[in-house]
Amino acid sequence: MTLDGTALPRFDADAFGRELCGDLRSDHAGETGAVAIYMGMLAISRDKQLREFALTHLKTEQKHLALLDAWLPHTCRSRLLPLWHLSGWLLGATAAVGGRRFGYITVSAVETFVIDHCEKQLPDAPEGVQALLRNLQQDEAHHQQDAEQRAGDSTGRTSAKLWSNIVWHGSALAVSLARII
Ligand SMILES: [Fe+2]
Ligand SMILES: [Fe+2]
Repeated sequence: MTLDGTALPRFDADAFGRELCGDLRSDHAGETGAVAIYMGMLAISRDKQLREFALTHLKTEQKHLALLDAWLPHTCRSRLLPLWHLSGWLLGATAAVGGRRFGYITVSAVETFVIDHCEKQLPDAPEGVQALLRNLQQDEAHHQQDAEQRAGDSTGRTSAKLWSNIVWHGSALAVSLARII
């Protein structure tokens, strides 16, 4: 399997160890949730700009998920995938109900969390896995910047900060669960 022309390392659960498998399980769960966020957004929003934004980001997240789906053995996937899909969908739908800006603020908050989550995995990951994580992280950084730019000065509002905090803690809880189940 290759990623942008670079060969992905063979998935070796024994060599990777429990920690890294837990990380990768949470990454796969995260991509499942990310795809669902944009599906939820698109199911609810009739805003042309937000829909275009969601459609573009959805394509990237589907690529991420397809990549991990092809690489990660079933033993290294979360058993709670339907829950991650549902919670992602509900988050995207809720964000869309709140309107365009609220949608952007939500995506910016999720991606800020994801970038940090990837960063924490890098020091202990083998080289080939690092390349994969950096590749995903780069896309998520683009998503975050795009969302933040579109949200404009509304990110500075107290309500936006409070919501971003809730999204952050919700994502952290999901990761803790997905790492083990
Ligand atoms: Fe992603
Ligand atoms: Fe993303």
